[in-house]
Order: sequence, then C-alpha cells, then structure tokens
Amino acid sequence: PKKQQTSTPSSKSYLSTLSYPSTSTPILKQTPFQQPSQLISFSYTPEYVLEFTDSALRYFVDPPVGAKLDYGYERWVRKPDERGRLDGLLKAISHIRKDPMRAPNLPEIGLVSWRGVMTKMLAAPYEEREGWDLNVMFVNGTLYLEEHLTEARLKEKNDMEPRQRRQSYFGYAFESYCTSETPTRQNGPPSSGAPFGWGGDVNTNVQWCSVVRTKLGDTRMVIGGEVDCIRGRYTGKTDSFVELKTSLVIRGPHDEGRFEKKLLKFYLQSFLLGVPEILVGFRTPAGVVTTTQTFKTIHLPRLVRGKPDAWDPLICLDWGHRFLTFLRKVVQAGDDVSSSSVWRVRFVPSSGVSVELLSGQPDIDEVVNGEERVGFLPRWYWEEVAA
Ligand code: A3P
Ligand code: MG
Ligand code: MG
Repeated sequence: PKKQQTSTPSSKSYLSTLSYPSTSTPILKQTPFQQPSQLISFSYTPEYVLEFTDSALRYFVDPPVGAKLDYGYERWVRKPDERGRLDGLLKAISHIRKDPMRAPNLPEIGLVSWRGVMTKMLAAPYEEREGWDLNVMFVNGTLYLEEHLTEARLKEKNDMEPRQRRQSYFGYAFESYCTSETPTRQNGPPSSGAPFGWGGDVNTNVQWCSVVRTKLGDTRMVIGGEVDCIRGRYTGKTDSFVELKTSLVIRGPHDEGRFEKKLLKFYLQSFLLGVPEILVGFRTPAGVVTTTQTFKTIHLPRLVRGKPDAWDPLICLDWGHRFLTFLRKVVQAGDDVSSSSVWRVRFVPSSGVSVELLSGQPDIDEVVNGEERVGFLPRWYWEEVAA
C-alpha cells in the first residue's frame, strides 16, 4: 500500500489506503481461521454492572406459535447506546491474566475487539451502504479496535424513530419468548396477564458475554460478544451456543434476496464466536412470529452459493487478513508513534479503507471523553500492558 501525504504537507499526518477486493474474483488460497474457544464468560446485571458469573446466561426454549413481539414494549428497560468502548472486554482479559487456572490459556494477543466490530470489518467488501469508523491503538504488540461513534451518530442512535425503535424491540421480545433462566422449564403458565411462553420483561442491560480466543491467518485474537442463549446443559464450550434472530417473512424473490444478503452478517457474527446454530423467527410487519427455522452456521455459505445475492466467506477472511496485515504495518511506522497513539480507520462503502494517525487534539478529545484514559483505553489497563 502506498503512503500519500494529506493536503497539509507540514503536518505529520499521513493517510494510508487499501482498496476492497473484487467480490467476484475467487479466492485461491484460503486464510485459515481457528475454531474459537472460550476463555471466560461474564454477565451484565439488570443495572449494567459487569460480574464474572453466568447470572445472565439463558437457556433455549421453543417459542410459542404466533408469539406477539409487541408485548411488553412499554416496560422495556433500554440500555442507552454508548461508545463502543472495550472496557468490559479488557476487564475480562485482565481477570484471566490474574487467574493462575486460566492464564495459561491466554495466547500472545495480536488483536482485541468486540465481535460486532470484527463482523463489520469482515463484511466490508460486501457493504454497499453504510460507512463506519474505527479507533485503533497498538500497545506492546497488540492491536485494539473500537468502533468510533461521533457525538452526532450517538445522538442519532439514541433518538431512534419510534417505528424503528419498536422494530428493534421485536428482536428482544423474541429473545424473551425463546429463553428461560433454567435449562428444563418451559416458560409459562401465563402470569399477570403475560402471554403464554413469555420469558419475562425485556431489560437490555442484561447480557451474557463470551470471550473467546481464535486466530485469523497469523493474527491471534481475543474477541468478546453477547451470546443469546445455549441449548442443553452449559459446558463452558461454544458448541451449545445459539444465536437468535428475527426477520420479516419472505413473500417473494425480492424478500428472499434481502434475507440472503442479511445471512452474511448472521454468519460472520456467529462464526466469530464459534456459535454453531442460528434460530430465525420470521415475523409479520406487525410483529407476529409465523414460523421459525434453524440454520447451522457452517451451512450458510453453501445455502447462498450461486444465488444472485451470494457472498463468499473466503473473500471476507482473505480481506480481513490483508486488512490486519496492512493495519499492523501502518501503526508500526513513523517516528512520532507511541503506545498512546490513536489511529482513525475509515471504511468507505464500495471503496476501501484509510488509516490516519490522530495527532490533532480535537479528535483526541472526542475519544477521551473526560475519563482516566490513555487514548481510548482505560488508564489502569494501559498501565498493565504498556511495556
Ligand atoms: P434481531 O436481530 O432479531 O432483529 P442480536 O441479534 O445481535 O442478538 O441483537 C438482538 C437485537 O438487538 C436484534 O434483534 C435487534 O432488534 C437489536 N439490534 C441489534 N443490532 C441493532 C442495530 N444496529 N440497530 C437496531 N437494533 C439492533
Ligand atoms: Mg444478541
Ligand atoms: Mg440475536
């Protein structure tokens, strides 16, 4: 990748760019991806306090036929949208390092990020509409990636249109119908006016998260993400994880194409944490579940192969590998680079990515947000890892 100087030659800000691959050129050499294995799990309580327990773990139960997803909307306890900080994940990594039983499982880490960031990064060659940005730090051999949300974007997310907000609720209501706090019990019988099968009112603070180690090409990664529920008994392995999704019922070829496109995100999201099963509830526009269908994550690529809206995960993995190689090169170059430097990566739909060192203070302020941070990392964590 060539380095170009930006418009102000006096500044030390360089812009490096990398273009997306053509999505129609087949991949000859596969980038290996290691089966993820869980290092630790943690829960967020109803008050959004992180604890190293499985209190938020939920078990899969079959949802009732005709489940109404608008139930309980008024009682939704909604976690406000916030910056995509890595704090929870960093607490978990620090916790593992201090635990003599777990520490040996922790690899030399090449990259730390949330699963949602990695999903977007890998899906980028197929993204035609939405651009997005990352903040990146490189500390003692490890890349840290967080999504960068501007104040404006954050406000936009929190002021979601009522219609959109309701639709987003449908997804959580489906989770309530599909999960139980105990492995065997079916939800119900109905209490206090709740419909049959209702699993309890929605509080989106409550999340059960799994932290896994895996490897893409030569990059060892530690990735954290929410897991919706598990099937059967909890063994501490990812092979019982289930991802829940809702989607509009498919009424024709147009809907089918849209659904197949969406499957790329479902696939990557699940694949990255080693989630083997995705259960989709098909709903009407008004939020009534008409059917459910389960998909084996590993079978999704061949389900879409040859279709008009097909995607190929090998293109995504190859891209991911090239992007990380490029990023590592960029963040190691330059004399004014230190373990507190922050880079901004910009993904532009149908085009590619650019990386730039943030040296201007205004941008950094946006990142720091008045907390005890070095770059965007909590200071306590940075001090643990910076050499
Ligand atoms: P659906 O995916 O069924 O629509 P996840 O599926 O990743 O576990 O997320 C659970 C739910 O959160 C989603 O359910 C959706 O309702 C909501 N959600 C996730 N990402 C969202 C986004 N970017 N914007 C709005 N809602 C989102
Ligand atoms: Mg989820
Ligand atoms: Mg889900």
